[in-house]
Amino acid sequence: MAATGTTGSGESAFYVTTPIYYVNDAPHLGHAYTTVAGDVLTRWHRQRGERVWFLTGTDEHGQKIMRTAEANGTTPQEWCDKLVETAWKPLWEHLEIANDDFIRTTEPRHTKRVQEFVQDLYDKGEIYKGGYEGPYCVGCEEYKSPGELLEGELCPIHKRPIEWLKEENYFFRLSAYGPRLLEHYERNPDFIQPASARNEVVQFVRQGLQDLSISRSTFTWGIPIPWDPKHVIYVWVDALLNYVTAVGYGSDEEKFRSTWPADVHLVGKDILRFHAVIWPAMLMANGLPLPKKIFANGWLMVGGEKMSKSNLTGISPRDLTGTFGVDAYRYYFLRAIPFGQDGSFSWEDFAARYTSELANDFGNLASRVAAMVGKYFGGTLPEATDAGPAEQAIADGLAAAAEQADRMIGDNLDFSGGIGAIFDFIKQVNGYLTEQQPWKVAKDDSPEARARLATILYTAAEALRGIAVLLNPVMPAACAKLWASLGAEPHLGPLAEQRIGEVAQWGKLPAGARIVKGEVLFPRLEESKA
Ligand code: MSP
Repeated sequence: MAATGTTGSGESAFYVTTPIYYVNDAPHLGHAYTTVAGDVLTRWHRQRGERVWFLTGTDEHGQKIMRTAEANGTTPQEWCDKLVETAWKPLWEHLEIANDDFIRTTEPRHTKRVQEFVQDLYDKGEIYKGGYEGPYCVGCEEYKSPGELLEGELCPIHKRPIEWLKEENYFFRLSAYGPRLLEHYERNPDFIQPASARNEVVQFVRQGLQDLSISRSTFTWGIPIPWDPKHVIYVWVDALLNYVTAVGYGSDEEKFRSTWPADVHLVGKDILRFHAVIWPAMLMANGLPLPKKIFANGWLMVGGEKMSKSNLTGISPRDLTGTFGVDAYRYYFLRAIPFGQDGSFSWEDFAARYTSELANDFGNLASRVAAMVGKYFGGTLPEATDAGPAEQAIADGLAAAAEQADRMIGDNLDFSGGIGAIFDFIKQVNGYLTEQQPWKVAKDDSPEARARLATILYTAAEALRGIAVLLNPVMPAACAKLWASLGAEPHLGPLAEQRIGEVAQWGKLPAGARIVKGEVLFPRLEESKA
């Protein structure tokens, strides 16, 4: 089991965060991608037996939200309330996201603490007043350097014209933190992942950092600077602080100490610098511990571009869950795209994987085994009295899959590799049944043949027990159905309480368990949609 928390006292939580999303629009696949990854990581660590804290939320201040509200003839707060309640929270529920908290940056528990944090930096001399002028992208909520603009005037991410901003602002002495940041990256090679993201940040910081403008005075939708309320705090400074305000910074010392620092901040690669440069520098300036890991995931692409609402390529997750179901949705993106790399979404690829991996390999295995236990043993799991090398190979296969998946998913956030290891085991069990041909063995009534048949079906059912436990973090609803079909709960307790570290203890599912042929786990796709 991986070490958790900071104090080593055993009470610290494994703390996972997603970015907090801008609520200028409804969520699309790109947003759901990171949140589902966070959820799978969370459930995985819970099944390791760790105490986990999973935070998500919404980023509600700044010019982008203010303009959207104005364009829709409403106030920013009303706009945020509406979007949060009708679009964001319901989607996370729909996708079975098991977050422990949901923070909104307009909540007083956040705004008050942000003011205190910034005041503290000001009192320490980390903030000074100055002027700034430069190209600004409202989509990114970020000043750009003239050199990175496309055709001299377009944001490289949004491909839309930047605006020229000139302001008198407060500045954070970010430039002073370059050497300490580089030292931290050096000493903690896993701090930024994957390696490509780490290299990019190291290179960026080596070029030298500029001080950061942390206030705005040209609009009012933000948290006022406490000592100069004509200014509001820069939305990114406000937003980054959600990770500490949500877990009791400045309000609940005990909760804060047992949760902070975060074990993993999951972020998209476009917001890596904020998290790997500005955020640690802010924490250093305030004397707080740094997060342990920042993992940058790639983009979901459509037609070679980052999927987004602003260029009208944002696909709603519900467009896909309606056809494929929530479990397959959670599975598909994590399985198909190596975490950390960009990946293209394609309906055809989703349908192909659904049919071959979920419906055929996994779903059919579960229904075939249940059907045969029903047909040949009246639904009561028989004892395995005739186990030999073929059965040992299955037990070993489960142990190997569990070990690999735990390392890949739990430690390295390699979801694709970990899920792949579990599906290799599913293939192995299918191969075992093909070889053993229980349907042929069943034709022979001799005691030896009955013992063989019993052993084969026990082995397959016990393998399914392991598969249900290992896939539960990814596909909780399908695995709950499988758990019920195996009749496991009366003997072993709820699925979510099954430990990854014990999954390979062969023989947990006892003979005598009542196996029923439950609902089909992954129904065939309708022809027109496949
Ligand atoms: N509000 C800031 C984050 C503040 S965190 C302290 C923000 N919000 S966002 O809504 O624009 O983006 C949130 C996340 O969604 C980012 O991690 C971004 O990378 C991710 N994605 C948005 N479109 C995406 C894809 N097409 N593909 C994958 N992720 C993408 O930035």
